[in-house]
Amino acid sequence: MTTDFTATRACFHLPEGVIYLDGNSLGPLPRAAAERVGRTVSQEWGELIIRGWNKAGWMEQPARLGDRIARLIGAEAGTVVLGDTLSIKVYQALASALELTPQRRVILSDTGNFPSDLYMADGLCRTLGPDYILKTVAPEEVEAAIDETVAVLMLTEVDYRTGRKHDMAGLTARAHAAGVLTVWDLAHTAGALPVDLAGSGADFAVGCTYKYLNAGPGGPAFIYVAPRHADVVRPALSGWLGHESPFAFDLAYRPGAGIERMRVGTPPVLQMAALEASLDIWDMADMADVRARSIALCDAFIAGVEAACPDLALASPRDGDKRGSQVSFRHPQGYAIMQALISRGVIGDFRAPDILRFGFTPLYTTFDDVAGAVAILSDIMATKAWDRPEFMARARVT
Ligand SMILES: Cc1ncc(COP(=O)(O)O)c(C=O)c1O
Repeated sequence: MTTDFTATRACFHLPEGVIYLDGNSLGPLPRAAAERVGRTVSQEWGELIIRGWNKAGWMEQPARLGDRIARLIGAEAGTVVLGDTLSIKVYQALASALELTPQRRVILSDTGNFPSDLYMADGLCRTLGPDYILKTVAPEEVEAAIDETVAVLMLTEVDYRTGRKHDMAGLTARAHAAGVLTVWDLAHTAGALPVDLAGSGADFAVGCTYKYLNAGPGGPAFIYVAPRHADVVRPALSGWLGHESPFAFDLAYRPGAGIERMRVGTPPVLQMAALEASLDIWDMADMADVRARSIALCDAFIAGVEAACPDLALASPRDGDKRGSQVSFRHPQGYAIMQALISRGVIGDFRAPDILRFGFTPLYTTFDDVAGAVAILSDIMATKAWDRPEFMARARVT
């Protein structure tokens, strides 16, 4: 398959005068989403009301869309389901993995992980008891820290700040050799680069749909459970829609078949309609093509910025194979520089303490976008246009 990136770009609404380099945080609006959500609102919710659950397929939607995401992350059919937020899914996967390794008490993660993952792990340890601990090591020390005391290795494959990519297959093999289960967070991987969950032998994986998958703000998370565990795990978040027969209203919980048991409560039907519109665009794309173009876009941006902005220090791996689909630079005034960029229509974001983050999303990012962003950034750096009080005041979301 050769992906037509002009055609995929035309499927998005991109505001006039904006160079959008933040799809790693929130994807833009697929043009068809407004119509698709509108149809769900007016024809399904409006006309069918409660009958929508049966007549419009709302109940099957989390697994049906899960199968479409499975294609993008190398997962077997019937192993992915949507619902809840990513933080919740991290907790659910971790709790299940810990229960599968009852004789061990350590969750191993790294200091580059997204704080919410670490907070959820810490909260789970407190719930389970004082002998459960979360151990964090530097990303480059993870492999050496895997030993027979560890129950679960919980990692985010692509570092949200630097874009540094872990070796999923290698670390999973190393973990399994020590009897350790793995939970992979694919927030910055799904839709960013090819993943081979089945081939790498991952036990659990979770991810979100509002970044590279373009489901819109508040889009639901997904969870993957390897087929060998799917009928064995006992979900700690044992909600009624993960029950074998929700409408039997049994007083006792009996887990549903396979991945269905990882559902918790009522799914976000409207949000999933938006996701469906985005997945139609993903059907036009081949992940290998996306990866090749993503690396080329990132390389072009790095070369352009390094040539024009000597004060910005590259914070991402230079080698495209070791990077996700984002490029980060460090500067002590990173926040102000990013606000100056946004005021000139180049939208990236800032991550404390000093990281300017730019996402490259081949479905709609072009080489002209890269050249335009480099030109505006170099002008802002050369003229110190960022050095103004209005660019220093921190907003709630950075
Ligand atoms: C790697 C990672 N994990 C977890 C989260 C938290 O996701 P949510 O807000 O959907 O719970 C994020 C959010 O950006 C993330 O990047």
